[in-house]
Amino acid sequence: MENRINSGRILITGAGGFIGRGLFEKLKNYDSTGVTFHLKEGDSSKGFIEADLRDGKKVKEIFDKVKPTIIFHFAAFLSPRRNEENPENARAANIGITQNIVNNLSDDAHIIFPSTDKVFDGSDPNPDEETGVNPLWLYAHLKYECEEMIKEKTDKFHIVRLPIVHSLGDHFSISTRTGRGSFIDKAIIDLRSGKKVTVFNNVERCFLRLEELLNLFEIFINDTNYGTYHVGTRLMNYYDRLCALCDEMGKDDWKDKIIPVAGKASPLVQNLNTNKLKNIFGLVLT
Ligand SMILES: NC(=O)c1ccc[n+]([C@@H]2O[C@H](COP(=O)([O-])OP(=O)(O)OC[C@H]3O[C@@H](n4cnc5c(N)ncnc54)[C@H](OP(=O)(O)O)[C@@H]3O)[C@@H](O)[C@H]2O)c1
Repeated sequence: MENRINSGRILITGAGGFIGRGLFEKLKNYDSTGVTFHLKEGDSSKGFIEADLRDGKKVKEIFDKVKPTIIFHFAAFLSPRRNEENPENARAANIGITQNIVNNLSDDAHIIFPSTDKVFDGSDPNPDEETGVNPLWLYAHLKYECEEMIKEKTDKFHIVRLPIVHSLGDHFSISTRTGRGSFIDKAIIDLRSGKKVTVFNNVERCFLRLEELLNLFEIFINDTNYGTYHVGTRLMNYYDRLCALCDEMGKDDWKDKIIPVAGKASPLVQNLNTNKLKNIFGLVLT
């Protein structure tokens, strides 16, 4: 392929998903291969491989063929509720796939893995990367197990603990196959079509724009400050986040359609201390 950036061979698992698809597109000038579970129209011509990564033999075949030196490992079974409802599938996908990936990592490979802010139980008001974890839900238990599996295998990792990742209601933000997507994206799409949305004003989280995450992932490709990083904005509630995004998009009139309500979530407040990200990469996210 012409005009390729020479940074090693990149493998992206979960390349058909919300974050993976965005990254694959961003890295189109790199030597990258995407693996997806269900090919969509046009995916084969982009260089996607279709595979069930729970199959260890298949994963070995892919690694033997691609010989990746950088692995963005996004394939996962998402959402706390789905994990609670399907514990066996959740374990097979989150742990099984990660084990298969780890088994095939070459000695010099560098792996980038997104984990979750949900490894914390909300009891520490500002947990940093050294704070002890206590996941309340299976999804975060499994993501943390994956973190540990990766750390046991290699020192060349960037593990990022992420809050809610969202775009600005972009068309690709809601899966056409499953209908899943972030609450923020769904709310923006509803507001755009004139609907009212009810939004929790007592549930506080950090947030992260997809674009900012993809920029960070590109930086990681050539970065050797390996380790675990918390990534996200300052703490804010869902209602304030959505109103701030309306301001940014110049959609002041949408705000009349945003109905603040008190909701139930556990924990109500989930913060991330992102000083390490700021100190090492100079990044402050908005
Ligand atoms: N989005 C967030 O807010 C957020 C926050 C924290 C952490 N993360 C982490 O970031 C990563 C990507 O998240 P996302 O939002 O992009 O999720 P997503 O859209 O659901 O993407 C997950 C991808 O994994 C693939 N996959 C699932 N099972 C597979 C299997 N057996 N074999 C091969 N591929 C399989 C899916 O393929 P198909 O689409 O073909 O089924 C999908 O493309 C995940 O590890 C997630 O835990 C995301």
